[in-house]
Amino acid sequence: MRIGTPLSPSATRVMLLGAGELGKEVIIALQRLGVEVIAVDRYPNAPGHQVAHRAHVIDMTDGQALRELILKERPHLVVPEIEAIATDMLIQIEQEGVVEVIPTARAAQLTMNREGIRRLAAETLQLPTSPYAFAESLQAMQAAIDGGCERVRAEPSGTYRHTPSGCIGYPCVIKPVMSSSGKGQSKVDGPADVKAAWDYAASGGRVDTGKVIVEGFIDFDYEITQLTVRAVGASGQVETFFCEPIGHIQVKGDYVESWQPQPMSAIALSKARDIAKQVTDNLGGRGLFGVELFVKGDQVWFSEVSPRPHDTGMVTMCSQVQSEFDLHARAILGLPVDVSLRAPGASAVIYGGVEAEGIAFDGVAEALRVPQSDIRLFGKPVSFERRRMGVALATGSDISEARERAKRAASLVKPIKP
Ligand SMILES: Nc1ncnc2c1ncn2[C@@H]1O[C@H](COP(=O)(O)OP(=O)(O)OP(=O)(O)O)[C@@H](O)[C@H]1O
Ligand SMILES: [Mg+2]
Repeated sequence: MRIGTPLSPSATRVMLLGAGELGKEVIIALQRLGVEVIAVDRYPNAPGHQVAHRAHVIDMTDGQALRELILKERPHLVVPEIEAIATDMLIQIEQEGVVEVIPTARAAQLTMNREGIRRLAAETLQLPTSPYAFAESLQAMQAAIDGGCERVRAEPSGTYRHTPSGCIGYPCVIKPVMSSSGKGQSKVDGPADVKAAWDYAASGGRVDTGKVIVEGFIDFDYEITQLTVRAVGASGQVETFFCEPIGHIQVKGDYVESWQPQPMSAIALSKARDIAKQVTDNLGGRGLFGVELFVKGDQVWFSEVSPRPHDTGMVTMCSQVQSEFDLHARAILGLPVDVSLRAPGASAVIYGGVEAEGIAFDGVAEALRVPQSDIRLFGKPVSFERRRMGVALATGSDISEARERAKRAASLVKPIKP
């Protein structure tokens, strides 16, 4: 793909579907390479809108509205940054040859629904996952926990097989099949929690499909994101490149802290990359993927995958030579990538803390006085208590120093009502 001049007939045009904090950074990376960028989100002045050539506000789950906008803007590439998109329409438009969807329309569709990606990983690719079942009612959910349902059971040996009987049992995790950032998700420790978990899932799903996944709880030692890049290599063909593993901590299904590199045994790392390779080979296309994995000793389970930059990967803005956003931009344009680590690094989330529009931030100078630190403030127009409004980044001589610095810097930034 030849890069032209933005806003001229030679322009290389890329449309971002979703313009949150991750989209904003992808847009900046593309702008640096001279690409014309069109940012789309469901509300005005989203973070990515503020740095794009053009900004549009549409309901991206409305296939017709999506189609009209794509036909009007005629981008060369469409880059989904969120899951809630009319992916049927993306598949149709891709088939018509109107536009190339990153990494593929099929990948966007499979990963927007937990059922699609879970069945692909566990049943088609036979990769280790938590035991699971799908349920469309409270009764079916209880049956899935108690037994007699369709499910896949983890064997102690690390091999997996389908067992039509038996139970997922307690503890387990309930999630709407369509949700992200932990919305509608809860851990169930015993029969008393089941009803509340169903009600919470029903309220928290993105599109009310009324379907949940019940997953056996994996008592992992730690969890990682294996950033995996499919980009054109020296051979001229698409090759697979692996970043150093990213460790992270999630609270209520939402990431609060991440660091890179996460120390791992050689066996666990090689299993993680083998799983990541199989999943991303199947999804295909070009771009960066965030493969989420659970690790206990040398055992590794696939959890889920984002066919796009991952929130825990924001750490790479300080820890890698090319951030996950630079890597995504380069990979989608058919350019070479460098996945090497620059320094051990960490990220810590800055939450809104207050419910208000147009908030301000105190303590930015103090935060930036923390050695080797940096911050990103996303510019979201409205703040909520638990909304991610920014992130602190820091490098150090090792991950523990980097984590301490990132957390200190994040804690010094104080959102205040205007
Ligand atoms: N089966 C499980 N066993 C143990 N912990 C789990 C399990 N499923 C999820 N979790 C925990 O909850 C977190 C969020 O789960 P998951 O990634 O499936 O949801 P999500 O809503 O897609 O989150 P995000 O969009 O932030 O990635 C995981 O990173 C992990 O910490
Ligand atoms: Mg996740």
